[in-house]
Amino acid sequence: MPSPSDEFVRAMPKVELHLHIEGTLEPEVMLTLAARNGITLPWPDVASLRRAYAFADLQSFLDVYYCGAGALQTVDDFRDLAWAYCQRAAADNVRHAEIFFDPQTHTDRGIALEVVVEGLTAALDDAQAQLGLSSALIPCFLRHLSPEAALATYEDCRRFGDRFAGFGLDSSERDRPPRLFAEVFARARADGYRTVAHAGEEGPPAYILEALDVLHVDRIDHGVRCLEDPMLVERLAAQRIPLTVCPLSNVRLRVFDTIADHNLAELLRAGLVATVNSDDPAYFGGYMSANFLAVTRGLDLDASGLLTLGTNAVEASFAQPLRKAELQAQLEIHFAET
Ligand code: ADE
Ligand code: ZN
Repeated sequence: MPSPSDEFVRAMPKVELHLHIEGTLEPEVMLTLAARNGITLPWPDVASLRRAYAFADLQSFLDVYYCGAGALQTVDDFRDLAWAYCQRAAADNVRHAEIFFDPQTHTDRGIALEVVVEGLTAALDDAQAQLGLSSALIPCFLRHLSPEAALATYEDCRRFGDRFAGFGLDSSERDRPPRLFAEVFARARADGYRTVAHAGEEGPPAYILEALDVLHVDRIDHGVRCLEDPMLVERLAAQRIPLTVCPLSNVRLRVFDTIADHNLAELLRAGLVATVNSDDPAYFGGYMSANFLAVTRGLDLDASGLLTLGTNAVEASFAQPLRKAELQAQLEIHFAET
């Protein structure tokens, strides 16, 4: 089977399930917003900021990322950020995006949740109308902060009702086991929200198990370390628990040395519902098409591997059944045209 062309990969209809909107803050935009808002960042220019992007691990990235998010202040800042992402996503043929944001990153520096949600919502509504991009918003609790802080954040978020499709858990993974957040996840589930959690990115397979057995999440974000536990792999496959894998992120944060070393192809061979996503594309060297092209070339995926990845993402999404059927049909038309 011939290798899919770059054009074929770019034109493939895509579903993005693991994207932090704060991670789409491009360096030029970060510095422009900081200047406009009178915020002093530790990087005087784009060159010095880009030098800070040589990450040793997840924490070294998060330190830069949280600092950079300080540039975001107003409704317009959040709207412009999300609109820029939606335009890039549409250019990569992303048709549906489930978008994370970190309420605490903003509320803890005095930005009201309304400001964040109003800005993001305005852009996502425009993207639906003008770009045909459907979307969902998923606030995440910051795992380096306390479970009590997560509970307070949940109560703040609840006011927005079904504006949010679900809740997630992100930030530093080492020594922050998912079970710490059992109560807030139980509350969210009792209120009818879907839930997801970052687990098994840097943390051990035991954290994936905890996310399943204690938090009862619908999807695992990253999850690539599951292969260290064959019983866990069997269970993830049998229960069709999706993994939102982020290839370029994993290389930039040193989870894998190179794309050729990434275990995505093994995850697919094990029958897992693995998907490809961009995580924090402004920091990790590319949006959805760049991630798909990297794995297509680096892991020598053929069209059937790409179709499996696309189908997995539709299955894993929280979109309504009718929308999922549309997304799957668009995907099949693209592959039938080869
Ligand atoms: N927040 C933004 N990107 C993240 C990642 N890759 N892991 C954990 N938390 C994050
Ligand atoms: Zn992430």
